[in-house]
Amino acid sequence: MIRLENVSKTYAKSGRKAVDGLSLSIPDGKIFGFLGPNGAGKTTTIRIACGALQPDQGEAWIDKVNMGSDPMVAKRRIGLVHDNPELFNKLKAHEYLDFIGDVFEVPQGERRSRVEEFAARFEIADMLGSSIGAMSRGMKQKLCVVASLIHDPANWILDEPMVGLDPQASFQLKEIMRERTQGGKCVFFSTHVMEVAERLCDRLAIIARGKIIFDGNLGELRALREGAGGGDQSLERLFLDMVADV
Ligand SMILES: Nc1ncnc2c1ncn2[C@@H]1O[C@H](COP(=O)(O)OP(=O)(O)OP(=O)(O)O)[C@@H](O)[C@H]1O
Ligand SMILES: [Mg+2]
Repeated sequence: MIRLENVSKTYAKSGRKAVDGLSLSIPDGKIFGFLGPNGAGKTTTIRIACGALQPDQGEAWIDKVNMGSDPMVAKRRIGLVHDNPELFNKLKAHEYLDFIGDVFEVPQGERRSRVEEFAARFEIADMLGSSIGAMSRGMKQKLCVVASLIHDPANWILDEPMVGLDPQASFQLKEIMRERTQGGKCVFFSTHVMEVAERLCDRLAIIARGKIIFDGNLGELRALREGAGGGDQSLERLFLDMVADV
């Protein structure tokens, strides 16, 4: 479970609030989609939730652990796939996975079986001996996904994870999201792909200009927009209308 309470962040360079008094509760057992136009504040929110960025105001909680006061414990409960799969280019893929396994102190046996399973599902098992610098963007993305699961985190946070993935990998990613939430874990991901969000998410939040403008399920979004003629429209249409109103 991930909880953000009234978080705000202004980057020194811009002087404008990238995230503005945002509160969100992402429950266990649900695939939670995070939507919003470019520059809306999705990555900033995700970085605050993961403890990579300190908010100016407000607090992040991971499974009741406060990120500000207990970051090491909170971060252990998170698997993160960030929006840019730039890694240590000089390392071989298996060295990187071992490094992440060491960071999270994953026992060798568990580490091996998880790497075996996910590397096979993402079809990178025969790439693990290659140096990361020689991998394509999509392969690096797959490696990031495998690395994020090595400690079997209770909370899986992904920033635009489908970008660059081939259809097989994209399918596997969605399957794994479903498996994890069926097992009671938490999945929180941002995307611009409305069709994916519409089919996959149990719950959605829409952010615009740093503020949450919707938080609920698709049925609730349709009901909310019914008056504006949105009762049976696609998520894409509802999203475009909702964001245009901000
Ligand atoms: N490192 C930074 N320094 C200054 N401003 C930043 C920085 N990162 C983001 N911003 C600004 O903060 C705001 C929110 O950016 P953020 O990256 O969180 O948006 P996003 O919703 O993830 O967008 P996208 O869909 O393009 O990934 C934008 O106005 C952006 O210009
Ligand atoms: Mg972003």
